[in-house]
Amino acid sequence: MSTQAAHLVDSVRAVTADEVATFRKNGWVKLEGLYDPELSGELLERLKVLMAAPVDTANPFQGAGVKMFKAYEDASKADELFGAFSHSLGMATAARELMGRPERFYEDKALCKEPSADGGGHTPWHQDFSYHPFDRQGTLLFWMPLVDCPPEKGTMRFLNGSHRAGLLGRFVHRTDGYDILDHFPDLGEGHTMSEPLHLKPGDVTVHDRMTLHYAPANETDSTRWVYTVSWFNRDALYTGMPCHRMDGLGLKVNEPLEHPNFPAITG
Ligand code: SIN
Ligand code: NI
Repeated sequence: MSTQAAHLVDSVRAVTADEVATFRKNGWVKLEGLYDPELSGELLERLKVLMAAPVDTANPFQGAGVKMFKAYEDASKADELFGAFSHSLGMATAARELMGRPERFYEDKALCKEPSADGGGHTPWHQDFSYHPFDRQGTLLFWMPLVDCPPEKGTMRFLNGSHRAGLLGRFVHRTDGYDILDHFPDLGEGHTMSEPLHLKPGDVTVHDRMTLHYAPANETDSTRWVYTVSWFNRDALYTGMPCHRMDGLGLKVNEPLEHPNFPAITG
């Protein structure tokens, strides 16, 4: 990788005490200018190349196939700049500071939402945590648009403080339009909803994966290019719940997820 690209990865700034406090209070936070927007431009070009190539169809989350967005997993394994950024000490440190405890790298995934005119849908209200085989909380996700993202392009909304609401169950698979807020109508009354967000390249939202969130459809005429990196509690034990990220890795139930795919990144 060129020195210039490595320099861009080093641009990840420290999170502030105010940002940490907001994250803990609301279960999410917007981090303005977390990293150099030039890095975002470089990542976007590389992601377009990766996603234009034929994809591994054995992986249901790679390439097209999910209506709410086109997902592309493991750019970090396919491209060294994605690898360096997602596994950088800057990102690991931000994750640890926000969550207040050591974290382990979990996964990186591009979530590209097509315009609604081309069939792109909304992302229903959900908590991420229900979908992962960890025995304890302490997981978080960095959501990083690689293009300018006004609200109408599908930036996320959050229910403030809902990371403390407990684990509410899975609803995303439903096809009848019934979502988690229909099932728990009091939630919408007990928690304010975050305002619509305008994120620029370099800006990031981070959410605790217990926090309820959704994203409206992309009502613009171009793709919402977004890259995400997530982290989990370094002490978490593996539950054995089926999950394509872990199946076949030889992990043992009730043991830590110590595997090269999930490094503990320390300075
Ligand atoms: C989205 O990008 O539309 C949703 C991301 C998430 O659910 O974490
Ligand atoms: Ni989510």
